[in-house]
Amino acid sequence: MLSERMRKAMNEQVNAELYSSYLYVSMSMYFESIDMRGAANWMMEQAKEELIHARKLMDYVNERGGRVWLDAIEKPPQEWESILDVFQAALAHEEKVSSLINGLVTLAREENDHMTDNFLQWFVAEQVEEEASAAEVVRKIKLVGDSGGGMFMIDKELEQRGSVSASQSEGEE
Ligand code: FEO
Repeated sequence: MLSERMRKAMNEQVNAELYSSYLYVSMSMYFESIDMRGAANWMMEQAKEELIHARKLMDYVNERGGRVWLDAIEKPPQEWESILDVFQAALAHEEKVSSLINGLVTLAREENDHMTDNFLQWFVAEQVEEEASAAEVVRKIKLVGDSGGGMFMIDKELEQRGSVSASQSEGEE
């Protein structure tokens, strides 16, 4: 059974993951509005991954006999200054999520909750990827600078990001 403190913290993380999904949908809509279809696809795929993260957390809370309570999801930003600005915001957001996950691990350890600590290690590893993939796009955008052709190529590349696999959507690795 999860402690009340741990259950509450995990519920807050569910909200953070759902907000992440909402934020990336908003970023996707921004890219649609400026005809960056590849970037819009990349963000929509990211939004889907965030739903998987939320699902994994909810399944775990249920498995441990806790109750998931859904809270209101904050309104995400809708406008950005530039394409670079969006990806920098995505990277900063992932860094924030990483610190939230670290906080959960710290709490699990304080409570000697080894099961939750072990469960959270999947998220610790996932955050390395989450930060790396946003950072990679930021680097590429900086590299091409103001080149329209370069940005066109990046958008084509971002279009290639495929859907998460069925096994992932079931909450497996
Ligand atoms: Fe669920 Fe992008 O962290």
